Amino acid sequence: MSKPINVAELFKKVIAHCKEYGFIFPSSEIYDGLGAVYDYGPYGAELKNNIKTYWWKAMVQMNENIVGLDSAIFMHPKVWKASGHVDAFNDPLIDNKDSKKRYRADHLIEDHYGKIFDKADKEVEKAAKRFGESFDATLYRQTNPRVVEYLQKANEVRDRYVRALEDNDLAALKQIIVDCDIVDPETGSRNWTDVRQFNLMFSTQFGALASENENDNRVYLRPETAQGIFVNFLNVQKSTRQKIPFGIAQIGKAFRNEIVARQFIFRMREFEQMEMQFFVRPGTEMEWYHQWKATRMKWHHTLFPQHKLRFHDHDKLAHYANAACDIEFEFPFGFKELEGIHSRTDFDLGNHQELSGKKMQYFDAELNESYVPYVVETSIGVDRMFLATLSHALQEEEVPDAQGGTAVRTVLKIPAVLAPIKIAILPLIAKEELTAKARELFHRVKMVVQCQYDEKDSIGRRYRRQDAIGTPFCVTVDFETLEDECVTIRNRDTLEQVRLPIAEVANYINQHISFDALMG
Ligand code: GAP
Repeated sequence: MSKPINVAELFKKVIAHCKEYGFIFPSSEIYDGLGAVYDYGPYGAELKNNIKTYWWKAMVQMNENIVGLDSAIFMHPKVWKASGHVDAFNDPLIDNKDSKKRYRADHLIEDHYGKIFDKADKEVEKAAKRFGESFDATLYRQTNPRVVEYLQKANEVRDRYVRALEDNDLAALKQIIVDCDIVDPETGSRNWTDVRQFNLMFSTQFGALASENENDNRVYLRPETAQGIFVNFLNVQKSTRQKIPFGIAQIGKAFRNEIVARQFIFRMREFEQMEMQFFVRPGTEMEWYHQWKATRMKWHHTLFPQHKLRFHDHDKLAHYANAACDIEFEFPFGFKELEGIHSRTDFDLGNHQELSGKKMQYFDAELNESYVPYVVETSIGVDRMFLATLSHALQEEEVPDAQGGTAVRTVLKIPAVLAPIKIAILPLIAKEELTAKARELFHRVKMVVQCQYDEKDSIGRRYRRQDAIGTPFCVTVDFETLEDECVTIRNRDTLEQVRLPIAEVANYINQHISFDALMG
């Protein structure tokens, strides 16, 4: 029986589990780590690769009109001028003078009015339970005095906030923090500095030539992979003879000097993105925007239950977008952005055309005209997807023990297709005749899937170890195997055991871990 892990505990348990079982380690840990930078261990690297493969298959392999790219991290500095990142890729930061802690002013305000909206939702939920089927939630929201008051208050703060961001008015942001009596979440102090802008791009010097003016050879570590796609748009289109609408997908590292980098791998300074830019005829972008929203949500639903996901329309649009939303996932610390879907208009291609002086136009033979395409983007962080997968998968369960009682097992119920190890091959005990047989099977199966051989400790302990890293199937070789050439396969989730001929093992596992079963 599953014992739900207390939400407050869950996040701590995920972090500890990642370390103990070789999923994630703090970077440079022997030197006390480096803020918001992490290394992926043996099982983490496997899980991460599987997430990337699952995305790549769904985007590139399954769509004739989407092709892949792997562009360089370093790009010409003018790329970031054209994209707007040099001038506008800023976060408003604020320091607390007492605690010396630094926060994003926008996050403090969003969390503040988000909590008031949540209070209104809770009132409506309570009323729905009280009144049963006849309950009209919309009417209740419009008429119940307490709910109306909450909504009015939250909307007022949100409107002020959006205005302040649109006007780039840092003093107005500070005033909202003061007026709403927002305190330092860690210490309760109200002693704030003014709000300042902070550019998130990392820069470094390029080449060995020293220059009087260090700006001459300054380059940036890319803060998004998308620009590599934009500047290669015509190279890819011409070399693959794609016709609009078509997409270019890319997976790669991105770097941001985040002001507040807490919450483990949710907000990192070095992270990985899976991005796809879909090039469309101007005027059709909203249609494609809605289509990509639905397609991406469907992909998430193959891995997570519906109640863990929701859309969130942006209150303030980024400098390049005419429509934007997030797919939010319910992380252990609440609903937060997992993926962004943006209608980026012709902002990027148009600006690159202007600054480079090179045409970024597509000739549309059907219309007999050339134009700068519009772009709809889907952008998801690999690391956030990793955190979502692990925090949803980590469970504690009561299971029967060898003495006829019960024990608690920690299990990662990762979808089989993403599991780091698909199958563990275990001789019942470490006796030569069994280990030789099990090793023989291991060498056969490893040609087909990622598998592991383990003969140390009791069989029960080995099952627990495989449960903890999320291995969906354990195959046991016992003395009967030597007689009948059959093995027992144990299912991680149901604990059911089936006996199968050795010759059928690889096929059986393959059926249960196939990508097509999930993608439908
Ligand atoms: N090209 C568009 C773009 O970069 P974004 O919303 O800034 O848009 C896209 O980022 C996705 O990248 C986010 O939804 C998130 O999953 C991931 N991401 C962004 N910043 C991150 C960070 N500091 N650490 C980990 N993932 C991050």
